[in-house]
Amino acid sequence: MKEQLAKIRVEALAAIQSTDTAASLDAVRVKYLGKKGELTAVLKQTGKLPPEERPVVGQLANEVRSALTEAIAAQNKVLAEAAMNQKLIEETVDVTIPGKKTELGHKHPLSIVIDELTDVFTGMGFEVAEGPEVELADYIFTKLNIEEGHPGREWTDTFYLTEDSSVLLRSQTSPIQIRVMENKKPPIRMVAPGRVFRKDEVDATHSPMFHQIEGMVVDKGITMADLKGTLNEVVKALYGEDAVTRFRPHHFPFTEPSCEVDMQCFECKGKGCAMCKGEGWIEILGAGMIHPKVLEGCGIDTEVYSGWAFGMGLERLAMRRFAIKDLRLIFENDVRFLKQF
Ligand code: DAH
Repeated sequence: MKEQLAKIRVEALAAIQSTDTAASLDAVRVKYLGKKGELTAVLKQTGKLPPEERPVVGQLANEVRSALTEAIAAQNKVLAEAAMNQKLIEETVDVTIPGKKTELGHKHPLSIVIDELTDVFTGMGFEVAEGPEVELADYIFTKLNIEEGHPGREWTDTFYLTEDSSVLLRSQTSPIQIRVMENKKPPIRMVAPGRVFRKDEVDATHSPMFHQIEGMVVDKGITMADLKGTLNEVVKALYGEDAVTRFRPHHFPFTEPSCEVDMQCFECKGKGCAMCKGEGWIEILGAGMIHPKVLEGCGIDTEVYSGWAFGMGLERLAMRRFAIKDLRLIFENDVRFLKQF
């Protein structure tokens, strides 16, 4: 039995040292030290030995077992180290290779203008409203006091979607005024940016799709002074404290009185230049006191409430702001153009 143990020791140690993976090492462990392993089998037989031989053989068997256990632990370490070194070689990162740059997107020039404007208005307590782009003629015209036969209703100017002229792509954001007033009781303070559509040929200053922002206040005791005060603040917030405005009488069917608001040209300070086409002033929006017919049509008591409204084109604002010469660039979405803002 002693020879047997010595043989197991030599064989097992050699087998342990020749393993090259954790799996093969474990196989060797099972082969000798497992429940049905060779060393275990020898140990089981020590019971059959004459009593005086048992302690000697038992001690030898234990020595062999601890020698194998130690050798397995040592080999385990060697293999783990080798595996780690291999991994480090395989996963080497070459930090000198130039990285892949992820291009961050950013805001479209029109979105910049819309966000700035809505920020100024929300800062003054206005809510942001929305309305449908496919809208009823009732809301775009009739409820805004635009009578039958008005040029704005012409088929040549607008995109009707039904033969009976009852549904069209909205040609102004003003119907959002009606939608808000029909759904909300005064006091109302809202702005509504959105797309509008008109049958215009595409050129450097026209597009069949463009953007407006509508604004409206309805409350007790609202006057033209509130309109002027608010719009002056907005223009100053956008163009600086020294921005100068001018309110000219005008006509819109849904406001009375109505006005157009000009801003003194910021390039030439009113002297006249290419930017303002020699005028010294740049028209920026239409506005006025909401017509009593419009308020009453939305169920608002004009004995108690009054309001003002304005509508402003956004493309021209963005074009001036960023010195964009051709409106088409805004919609072409050429990344080389958009990257500049
Ligand atoms: N909707 C008008 C347009 O498209 C602009 C406008 C003028 C809107 C006066 C208003 C307003 O709310 O009061 O030309």
